[in-house]
Amino acid sequence: MKQWKKKDLLGLEDLNKGEIELILDSVQSFKEISQREIKKVPALRGKTVALLFFEPSTRTRVSFELAAKRLSADTVSFSSSNSSILKGESLLDSARNIEAMNADLIIIRDSSAGVPCQLASQLKAGVLNAGDGFHEHPTQALLDLFTIREKKGKIQGLKVSIIGDIAHSRVARSNIHGLKKLGAYVTVCGPPPLMPAGIEKMGVEITYNIDEAIEKADVLNILRIQKERHSVDCQIPSLREYREQFGITKQRLKRAKRDILIMHPGPVNRGVEIDADVVDENSVILEQVNNGVAVRMAAIYLLANR
Ligand code: CP
Repeated sequence: MKQWKKKDLLGLEDLNKGEIELILDSVQSFKEISQREIKKVPALRGKTVALLFFEPSTRTRVSFELAAKRLSADTVSFSSSNSSILKGESLLDSARNIEAMNADLIIIRDSSAGVPCQLASQLKAGVLNAGDGFHEHPTQALLDLFTIREKKGKIQGLKVSIIGDIAHSRVARSNIHGLKKLGAYVTVCGPPPLMPAGIEKMGVEITYNIDEAIEKADVLNILRIQKERHSVDCQIPSLREYREQFGITKQRLKRAKRDILIMHPGPVNRGVEIDADVVDENSVILEQVNNGVAVRMAAIYLLANR
């Protein structure tokens, strides 16, 4: 039986294939807990999990909180708007104070890349990255990998096309690391201003032709257009034009394989990167969200019990 040894979960770049598989293999038993009438086990009774969210979040924050609570851990949450960070305290000092209150695990989301890594190097408590800037979003990629494996029965050899705002996407980066380590072929597709320089060094193919990306795919992972992160030298002319050139519509999906899996990490801009009828009738978005709780239960359990 393989054992989890790492103090922190900061990104899929840091994990090897065995570590990714260890997490994915643990997920099913946690998924079953969420299907019971009493969705709670005493696995982490007496442990304390702190949730530090310094950037807006619905899915990840709620999912982590539910996951910790279903494992019977005590949870505390704070954000920049309700903590002493507003009074000038540094994030590291705030985290050290939470650690001094014997928190076992700190889950953090921040708009700056590298913040979870910095905290992890300074704290004895485990640190779990819930998304840092453009860098990584490891639990999103793990829930995507779990959903692909659940639906397709494997990841090795699958063709996965990641579509859209690659430049600003921590989800794309974490997915590419995970998919490549598990043997998938990854293509990235989007408008040139949203394609980061050097992305091919991650072992992916690049295409600017959306029909080609759709035709060859077993899985489409469609990214949100992150308008709020676009700068003058990294932007698209308009959302309407984006939809015309890259939006996933029923019409475009006529070229797709019959059993194509359509995913999106959320939040969705309906009618921009994906049409509303594709979201509601063809996608597995809510199944991804459902799997997210179980994936986060597995991650919290492994880190808190290492
Ligand atoms: N997918 C994701 O991270 O969503 P939230 O920003 O709502 O957490």
